[in-house]
Amino acid sequence: MAASVLSMLAFPESFTVTELLMASAVFCLVFWIIESYTQRVPKGLKSPPGPWAWPLIGNILTLGKNPHMALAQLREKYGDVMQIQIGSTPVLVLSGLETIRQALVKQGDDFKGRPDLYTFSLITNGHSFTFSADSGEVWAAQRKLAQSALKTFSVSSSPSSSSCYLEEHVHKEAEYLIQKFLEQKGHFDPFRYVVMSVANVICAICFGKRYDHENQELLSIVTLSNKFGEVVASGNPADFIPVLQYLPSSKIAAFKDLNEKITNFTQKLVKEHYKKFEKGCIRDITDSLIEQCQEKKLDENANVLMSEKKIVNTIIDVFGAGFDTVTTAISWSLMYLVAKPEIQKMIQEELDMVIGRERLPKLSDKPQLPYMEAFILETFRHSSFLPFTIPHRKIWGDPSVFRPERFLSADGTINKALSEKVIMFGLGKRKCIGETIGRWEVFLFLAILLHQMEFSVPSGVKVDLTPIYGLTMKHAPCEHFQAKLRS
Ligand code: HEM
Ligand SMILES: *[C@@H]1O[C@H](CO)[C@@H](O)[C@H](O)[C@H]1NC(C)=O
Repeated sequence: MAASVLSMLAFPESFTVTELLMASAVFCLVFWIIESYTQRVPKGLKSPPGPWAWPLIGNILTLGKNPHMALAQLREKYGDVMQIQIGSTPVLVLSGLETIRQALVKQGDDFKGRPDLYTFSLITNGHSFTFSADSGEVWAAQRKLAQSALKTFSVSSSPSSSSCYLEEHVHKEAEYLIQKFLEQKGHFDPFRYVVMSVANVICAICFGKRYDHENQELLSIVTLSNKFGEVVASGNPADFIPVLQYLPSSKIAAFKDLNEKITNFTQKLVKEHYKKFEKGCIRDITDSLIEQCQEKKLDENANVLMSEKKIVNTIIDVFGAGFDTVTTAISWSLMYLVAKPEIQKMIQEELDMVIGRERLPKLSDKPQLPYMEAFILETFRHSSFLPFTIPHRKIWGDPSVFRPERFLSADGTINKALSEKVIMFGLGKRKCIGETIGRWEVFLFLAILLHQMEFSVPSGVKVDLTPIYGLTMKHAPCEHFQAKLRS
């Protein structure tokens, strides 16, 4: 029956919409692609409750521009397991931490698939292990390959210093970023600089290379990332009403162009790597993938056949997943910091007390900086920028209030049980493979920036914290950001 299933997890948070929505729960959207409408429900079982659907378009109008919020509202009526229809495709929607855990963890194998969506098929010509419909042996092998290569070039210790590669890269990029912030006269939008710095960290890990902040090729890819997210966000009509694929759409055209740009960009780098490749001198993830290709050729017994193309395309998955999420997290953090200067001050007081002003923060300081940690958790929870995981009122009490202290125990340490309720990296077989990198990178960038700089907006400016729906939800651009060195 069900061919493939997509699960996307994240917390939607509505500060703009009604109280009712704010009380909505953690939920998970599962696309349940089934061959035909009639054979949908096996004999003896009944389909889950859900709203009445229009012919052809299903519940698309109900979902609207903010599907995560519309679904939160429907959930109030139909419960934790409901079925809606997008186009003519039945889609199973799961809500509530326990229901989601049951599906993604306890029945992990049943829910590890992705749907065969039109927009997904445009990514990496269908070779992406993040977005392709495959969830069999090849997917598992590709995911494992990416996981192990990532580990080697990020959290493993670097031969040239006492820290890990990731720490070295972030230190370097944070210093460039501070320079860039200082070059700005008056107020500016920080996003463009943050995204280049974060992209440079993943470029260093993937390609052993960094780019100037003015490099137009990389800049044009990374600044378009929000357009990418808008197209592949859950519930894009073009994925569910096939005829829309054949109508001209400027969004889809831009999306194809962006994918081609990314492919061109990485292909060039992969070619350079092939030219300089030396066994025994594996410099970055691209080298290590090339090595895999060559070893596979020698190893007749390799039990999973993966084409060279597929192996090399793994780099695009890692590169793509590695900058947009982290950039979005840091960018939201900066918005909360300028919207709430008193919280910024408390973080800086903690940094000064634990680290002092003589040296820069390090990854190893993380356990000693619980307030910083609580702030990051609260940013994840409150912005919920991966739009399918909202805080229960049952769990959070006052979900709409931004309050890092909620994560601190009476003795000032992190309340671990509560922090684990922020499901920002997914659950089960599809869980993020970059969780450690993501958490460490967000921490270290913010710690160094806040140790060195003070951020603000001119008095009277109100920061707009309304999320814009997408694969990762962004805040509106903020042109009023100001940065100066701390006195
Ligand atoms: C704050 C940072 C990050 C957040 C919040 C985040 C969150 C997520 C989420 C929610 C998923 C989907 C889980 C699902 O389908 O149920 C995911 C998947 C993924 N993430 Fe991350 N991520 C972050 C950073 C990273 C980084 C730094 C990398 C790589 C360097 C990465 C690589 C991936 C990959 C490859 C997948 C797809 C896995 C698969 O489909 O099998 N992520 N991430
Ligand atoms: C990608 O490269 C090809 C061949 O070099 C070129 O024709 C095409 O215009 C490039 N695409 C984009 C979007 O830059």
